[in-house]
Amino acid sequence: MKPKRKSPVWHPFTQHGLQDEMTKIARGDGAYLYAADGSRIIDAISSWWVVTHGHCHPRIVSAIQEQAGRLNQIIFAGYTHDPAEEVAAQLLKFTPDGLDHVFFSDSGSTSVEVALKMAGGYWHNIGKHRSRIVVMEHSYHGDTIGAMSVGARSVFNAAYGPLLFEVTTIPFPAKGHEQAALDALDSICRKERPAAFIVEPLILGAGGMLMYPAWVLREMKQICEASDVLLIADEVMTGWGRTGTLFACEQANVTPDIACYSKGLTGGALPLAVTLCRADIFDAHYSQDRTRTFFHSSSYTANPVACAPQALTWISGGTKTLATK
Ligand SMILES: Cc1ncc(COP(=O)(O)O)c(C=O)c1O
Repeated sequence: MKPKRKSPVWHPFTQHGLQDEMTKIARGDGAYLYAADGSRIIDAISSWWVVTHGHCHPRIVSAIQEQAGRLNQIIFAGYTHDPAEEVAAQLLKFTPDGLDHVFFSDSGSTSVEVALKMAGGYWHNIGKHRSRIVVMEHSYHGDTIGAMSVGARSVFNAAYGPLLFEVTTIPFPAKGHEQAALDALDSICRKERPAAFIVEPLILGAGGMLMYPAWVLREMKQICEASDVLLIADEVMTGWGRTGTLFACEQANVTPDIACYSKGLTGGALPLAVTLCRADIFDAHYSQDRTRTFFHSSSYTANPVACAPQALTWISGGTKTLATK
């Protein structure tokens, strides 16, 4: 018989039949987590790759506290606020030239959903019927239905298979097989005229830290460009310096048409994500006609408290500030 659980909480990616008791964390400080029993744990996974400046960095904490007392939530359709404007302005200073518009959401998965809808909206609004998405073998883009659809099919999503939409998959460009992957992409782009190719630049994280070189990414961009296929770069994992440059696309000197960033965007303190796009993708939605609107929102879009840490500005401020703790 199923033993009675102590807690009603259902944890993510957790088989409660194998692990019913969770380690209770009481607080975090820098690289460390402190469990309720007093033991100290090194947060070597930076809490799912999000904590870029350490837990409870005083600068982040005080920015959150200050913003929470001023404006803590506001509908973002028809309204704006300084924290969101500032995040967007700072982002455009650091992201590849050619990405001009910033759409907010609240997780890596939702930033991918937004990217897929932006691509769909673009082709729809310019009157071309392109909807197929091309993906790379072993990819991971999140756990919402659209994000799962463009990720690798496996035990993680087998139960939801009937809900997922069909995609075309190119092989992973493993060492020695790069050209085969590029040829496959080229042939699909020419024959199927897809809407977009979504890719994790340089490293497939959840797929097993599979790496491929920058020249492959550069050639993939050229192939997409030649067939007018939008390149979506999912930098949710690779962003914020995890590959040595601020964003992985920099190493290939590539500006994607659409880019997704999340995780370290707030220094890992609060959920926030952005999807950036080229001007003409925004322009395809810009009209006096409401039916051409980008129909996406969620209640907490660009929540002011989530925007407050402004972890980005630290990059321009230099590492000195970071070292003060
Ligand atoms: C490349 C990539 N995209 C998307 C996601 C989904 O992000 P989130 O867990 O914030 O929804 C992840 C999460 O690890 C990821 O690594």
